[in-house]
Amino acid sequence: MNSPTDGRVVLAAFVEHDIPVLGQGFRDPLWARWSPVPAEGDIQEWMSRRNDWSAGDHCSWAIRSAGDGRLLGSISVFQIDRDQRDAEVGYAVLPAERGAGVAAAAVRLAAAHAFGPLGLHRLSLYHAVENSQSCRVAAKAGFTLEGTLRQSYRYADGLHHDEHVHGLLDTDAM
Ligand SMILES: CC(C)(COP(=O)(O)OP(=O)(O)OC[C@H]1O[C@@H](n2cnc3c(N)ncnc32)[C@H](O)[C@@H]1OP(=O)(O)O)[C@@H](O)C(=O)NCCC(=O)NCCS
Repeated sequence: MNSPTDGRVVLAAFVEHDIPVLGQGFRDPLWARWSPVPAEGDIQEWMSRRNDWSAGDHCSWAIRSAGDGRLLGSISVFQIDRDQRDAEVGYAVLPAERGAGVAAAAVRLAAAHAFGPLGLHRLSLYHAVENSQSCRVAAKAGFTLEGTLRQSYRYADGLHHDEHVHGLLDTDAM
């Protein structure tokens, strides 16, 4: 696993002492509403899966402060399709760290990894239409809003929500 950084945030592996902080993050109603979260006892396994890239279908990182290394959030390039050269990106930021541009910075770093070392051509980013914060992250990271999908994903509330799909190509200016 490499550790991309812009000098402010760094993408790195999850470590043992992230468990309690992650546990708090997963209890945040917004995180649990819009991102899949593990059960309380399964955080260790969740971290191990994120740190294990051996299947080649995802690259996942802890988002950390480049200054003091504290955990800020989580990001993943997943559903990697080597034939199509595409993947999706998903992320979440700890409640106390929101509003400081962390997610957009992390998405830019993950996209640079996707288009650089992974050699991908396209990244897709999906979010529920109600999740306006995530829409802002996509725009700030340079993605183009390409459309609205009707009731395309069943979220944690058990309901299918309309989603925006945003796309970023390796040829787009970042
Ligand atoms: C979506 C999320 C990742 C954004 O992370 P972030 O690091 O706060 O992102 P940004 O700082 O770039 O802010 C994005 C937008 O959130 C809103 N925002 C600003 N301050 C905020 C705060 N203190 N708390 C919550 N949202 C805030 C603003 O609309 C902001 O857009 P702006 O910069 O144009 O004003 C974060 O809110 C989160 O983890 N949400 C729950 C999980 C989730 O929705 N994941 C994405 C699934 S698709």
